[in-house]
Amino acid sequence: MPAFQPFVPQIVDPAGVSEAAAARPMPMTTDATRAVTVEETGGRPLTEFAGTSNPYIDYQSIDLLLSLQHPRSEGYDEMCFFVMGQVKELLFRGIHFELVNAQHQIRDGEVANALQILARAKTFLDYITDSWNVLSTITTEGFTQFRDHLGTASGQLSFMYRHVEFVLGNKSRELAEAHRNVPHVWPAMLEALESPSLYDDVIALLSLRGHTISAHALDRDWSLPYSPDASVEAAWRTVYTEPNASDDLHLLGEALISIDQQFSLYRWRHFTSVERIIGYKPGTGGSSGVGWLDHVTRHRFFPEIWAISN
Ligand code: HEM
Repeated sequence: MPAFQPFVPQIVDPAGVSEAAAARPMPMTTDATRAVTVEETGGRPLTEFAGTSNPYIDYQSIDLLLSLQHPRSEGYDEMCFFVMGQVKELLFRGIHFELVNAQHQIRDGEVANALQILARAKTFLDYITDSWNVLSTITTEGFTQFRDHLGTASGQLSFMYRHVEFVLGNKSRELAEAHRNVPHVWPAMLEALESPSLYDDVIALLSLRGHTISAHALDRDWSLPYSPDASVEAAWRTVYTEPNASDDLHLLGEALISIDQQFSLYRWRHFTSVERIIGYKPGTGGSSGVGWLDHVTRHRFFPEIWAISN
């Protein structure tokens, strides 16, 4: 970006924003009330509201959301970095919600529901992968202008991202413990670390459907990183022996490997964007930077399904 001091338009006066995280009370409408309203407005949008807010603002606390972009430097690229960082946190939130619900449906034996949910999770992952298109417009020089302001902050400390990794089964007590001093974040993180992942529930389903699964794969210390299991691979091999579009386990295997592949593409886009922006400089979070990202890019959540191709 050309070097000039950015102009940051003030959209919301922060003094008027309620900082409460809870949902704001607001009335509901129905088909019947909406029919009455449209009669009254003659088909024109509502533009008069009582009090000091309006229902669109209150439904999603939009004024609060749009008060949270406060770049700390005069570097032009920081606003882009700020907005995209927050967008990505929201997308991780959406992905996590879908994956947790897919896990619950699998646990309840509702595989058809899980397949529908996993299709959306995959679409979310496509979308978040494309977010690197925007972030890659940040130049080395532009990033250098605000990087020092990050201190030791790093995406590595994203608890929302860590929840996504954990529900998919990539557990790490060491990385989780970065949040143990945060009382409003740590209990959920610890629970996620120590609970079965979505894949652990898929393995339990394989067993329930008559596949022979080793006792260790069905009951282990869930906080440990998943390591491939021969009985799980044998079960997937049986499922994949006669691929069948009406076999829900085969469809589940394909849905999972699509998510795993897309996650790898997400990591790969991060890795190459970072290499382009900061080269081989160390990360702000204390890691070797690109070297660390190269290492995590090789991770596979569902190794036995990948092994089928061999
Ligand atoms: C565009 C500029 C960015 C650069 C140069 C960058 C750089 C890095 C580096 C060097 C690491 C390794 C850990 C460390 O900091 O020591 C890392 C990790 C990470 N970053 Fe970024 N990052 C960028 C943007 C983002 C954004 C916008 C997000 C999303 C919120 C993000 C999410 C993450 C995550 C989740 C990790 C941990 C990866 C893992 O351990 O698997 N990064 N990043």
